Amino acid sequence: MKASLESGLITIKGGRPLRGEVIAQGSKNATLPIMAASLLLYNGKISLRNVPKLLDVHTMSELLISLGAKVDRDDHTMTIEIQDELAWEMPPSLVRKMRASSLVLGPLLARCGKVILPLPGGCAIGSRPMDLHFKGLSKMGAQITLDKGAVIAKANKLVGTRIYLDFPSVGATENLLMAAALADGETLIENAAREPEIDNLVRALRKMGAVIEGEGTGILRIKGKKELNPASITIIPDRIEAATYLLAGVITHGDVAIRGVIPEHLNALLAKLDEAGIEVINNGNVLRVLNPGRPNGITLKTMPYPGFSTDLQPQMMALLSLADGTSIIHETIFEARFLHASELQKMGAQIELQGNTAIVHGQENLIGAEVYATDLRGGAALVLAGLAAEGETTIYNVEHLKRGYENMVEKLTLIGAQIDERAAEVTKEDI
Ligand code: EPZ
Repeated sequence: MKASLESGLITIKGGRPLRGEVIAQGSKNATLPIMAASLLLYNGKISLRNVPKLLDVHTMSELLISLGAKVDRDDHTMTIEIQDELAWEMPPSLVRKMRASSLVLGPLLARCGKVILPLPGGCAIGSRPMDLHFKGLSKMGAQITLDKGAVIAKANKLVGTRIYLDFPSVGATENLLMAAALADGETLIENAAREPEIDNLVRALRKMGAVIEGEGTGILRIKGKKELNPASITIIPDRIEAATYLLAGVITHGDVAIRGVIPEHLNALLAKLDEAGIEVINNGNVLRVLNPGRPNGITLKTMPYPGFSTDLQPQMMALLSLADGTSIIHETIFEARFLHASELQKMGAQIELQGNTAIVHGQENLIGAEVYATDLRGGAALVLAGLAAEGETTIYNVEHLKRGYENMVEKLTLIGAQIDERAAEVTKEDI
């Protein structure tokens, strides 16, 4: 794999226990749908607090601006103002940067009655279809057609109805929730996703005047309103970012505390770490590991929330590469989320892939190497492995990390990591 043109690289000198405290950032996966929900306003603004500084948040801001919204940022706060008419077409180049661009479909269709959405396309972890989004919106009365790589969605008026999701898709739940907020009548979404980021979106919509019940239960009941109102919303902590730094403490046998996290959002991780013999101290809104030993091998299966998050599967694979024993990892959410395995193997990890199952034979140690980040959480897995490995690890294509981790190098440096970042000298053959 080659360094991509615009990527940077990170070098890590591993083998040092990390010690210190990390403050969790605002949740990327709560921020993005709530930013999209601003499109439901006819006139007015929403203000957001605890917004993380991430590449994906910047991309969503650019997308909203391209539609006619006004977005202002001040440190970790953001205001999004909708004045007059919004565009219902958007630049394919922007949409294709980020799968979550698809979250403008529901709100824009509900507000404008027409959307031309370039298909966001797949990414490193899978094809990322949107059939469940389209099926639900069609049931609400939208006409959905595909033409030249774009979705054309039209609806004079969306009408509330009963929707059953064949799979509790996070994005489909969010798009349908936002569409239902302005639909005629009542919408029932069954087998809805139950992630905490959806609860945050429900609370945001409720503050905007939407009438919604059932978050966290798998059945969402929404009574459509004619119009929603401006509101101010606080973003929840990022459970995946927080868990990534907690696992950095585990893999380096250090003493690391994560402040500002909501521990119950990580119940599945805490249960699996307990099974692996790793004690995590839970002080209410601080999670801490204190000089943990080597984990035991475990069996892990990614599931929709409250099951074990697929977004922590790569990081756990890195940790279990050093376990005392063999682990079995079943990835049930995405069809291709093991690209990080081959990069971990370059560092000495013993991993056998059999379809959506990875068999990880724990080793005494990993050896620093030159590796390539394949996607956001795959890149995080390589950082964890580099922190634990003997010698120096160089990770290319670290742009992936900037999509979801605010100031990762600074945060790790503050807890004792020997890590630094620089631009990749891109040679001719790399392009
Ligand atoms: C969200 O993606 C998250 N992204 C992902 O986090 C996360 O991994 C995923 O949910 C699962 O928890 C954001 O919230 C921005 P899905 P999303 O729709 O909404 C299939 C990260 O690292 N599917 O629940 O795209 C789909 O192909 C990112 O922060 C259909 O088949 O996830 C996938 O296999 C990565 N048809 C599975 O469902 C559909 O219409 C889960 O997708 C929709 C989805």
